[in-house]
Amino acid sequence: MEIVTTHSPPFEIESKALVLFHYEDVTIEKGPLDKIDQRLNGALSNLVLSGELSGKLGEVVVVHTIGQLACERLVIVGVGNSQLATCQQFRLATGHATKVLRKKHITSITVCVQTSIQTALSLKDFVQSIVEGATLANYDFATYRTMDTDSTAIEKMLIAAPDTGDSEKVLPLAITKGQAVGEATNTARDLCNHPGNVMTPTYFSECAEAIASDTGMTINVFERPEIESLGMGALLGVAQGSHEPPAFVVLEYTPSDEIALKQSPVVLIGKTVTFDSGGVSLKNKIHMEHMKADMGGGAAVLGAMKTIAGLQIPLRVVALFPVVENVMGSRAIKPGDVVNSMSGKTIEVLDTDAEGRLILADALHYAQRFEPDCIIDIATLTGASSIVFGPMGIGMFGTDHALKCEMEVAGTESGERVWELPLWPEYKDLLRSYVADLRNISTIFQEGSMMTAASFLHHFVDETPWVHLDIYNTCWNDEEHPLHSKGPTGSGTRTLVKFLINRAFRKEAADAQH
Ligand code: BES
Ligand code: ZN
Ligand code: ZN
Repeated sequence: MEIVTTHSPPFEIESKALVLFHYEDVTIEKGPLDKIDQRLNGALSNLVLSGELSGKLGEVVVVHTIGQLACERLVIVGVGNSQLATCQQFRLATGHATKVLRKKHITSITVCVQTSIQTALSLKDFVQSIVEGATLANYDFATYRTMDTDSTAIEKMLIAAPDTGDSEKVLPLAITKGQAVGEATNTARDLCNHPGNVMTPTYFSECAEAIASDTGMTINVFERPEIESLGMGALLGVAQGSHEPPAFVVLEYTPSDEIALKQSPVVLIGKTVTFDSGGVSLKNKIHMEHMKADMGGGAAVLGAMKTIAGLQIPLRVVALFPVVENVMGSRAIKPGDVVNSMSGKTIEVLDTDAEGRLILADALHYAQRFEPDCIIDIATLTGASSIVFGPMGIGMFGTDHALKCEMEVAGTESGERVWELPLWPEYKDLLRSYVADLRNISTIFQEGSMMTAASFLHHFVDETPWVHLDIYNTCWNDEEHPLHSKGPTGSGTRTLVKFLINRAFRKEAADAQH
């Protein structure tokens, strides 16, 4: 979607659709809405009186202007309560409007910046939020469809903003950031949407290579012989049942900025299981197709890397992707088998469906060689995440208070929400084995399996500050949602991008003081 700005008064702009926002607790506000109401002989006031225009979040009222205004129709979008106005409210409201306009096959829209509506948000936050909302809601994965559907992509968005002096500086940056965050998520969605017969570990590595070469990042794709030399027995154990060879991908973004170059990097790790059948511990067939998105962690990391490299942020970031397909076969790993992880710890694999933690164990150990500032892993790790949160937020675990706070801020800012869960030592103890050093599930009790999964990873983390995000519950969308299409959501990508941007500019400010 192309996004441009103008200072022309909104009601003078010729357009198929002029989008305006309306709070539920404010009558027709002074400004564009009030002026438009006068030109339409009080049509909007009438709609308010009749209750058809309430300003409730998600309400979209379309009014044809029949030549009274330069735009063909007004699209008035409810944003809810003005006292509680947040970025997320404007993202959601814009998402609702985008979905309605897509269904009406309107490909070019004008959105109005109403200064009076920004009681709670700065111009920057308002514009970034509406751009994010529109970019996310405009997403559709059509690669494998040959027939038309009932909606058309919005190709152009004109933002009509009054000239406030600083708007020349603020608007382009807010648009760039909003688009970057939205497009990173859409890249992650694309990766997860490809079916498992296309998105194999080899294809994922090729996608990462293409992104690396487009954005000037360094990439190393380790194939089976190198993975064997590294001693990643846990990753290899998961991969051994599949005809598709595994990969271990190392993608490095190095900023040109001299100071940033000397920093120890942030290491991101994304679980990339291109299809998880459960292996010999076979999953139930209900919705097994969702398991093509068991690479949601890797997709979020790759989407975020593409974006931060595109934005050239001043922060060193290394991304690690353990990439496998988890299927059964005569060579597949069996319950009771023991694997040697790269760390030297041996693991009794009691459930081959708990494969994510096995491949992450080797990636977490490998991460130490970068002497990182911190390690973040993100994974569609447990079905239990859905029982704990429903699809409402992301579970976070971690060893460092400051790092967890940074991630929580990024989660809140992105509207994805991350919420901390505990890493109590008793969970770690549940994973001791009599046969090997560790077992990959607790057999003492199954409850709390989100915590035991995270605690298994904890066994492979040293003193480096570490955060683990479990995104299984948020990675797939089956219902109508203003910001998602059906299927993979690209969950976690926005949080990662915000986390990295915040960290880059916080570090830059700190470095400038020294
Ligand atoms: N990728 C799955 C997460 C998952 C769980 C997806 C349930 C769909 C339904 C993960 O690899 C997994 O299978 N986790 C198991 C672990 C269990 C065997 C301890 C889970 O959470 O059920
Ligand atoms: Zn599994
Ligand atoms: Zn899995």
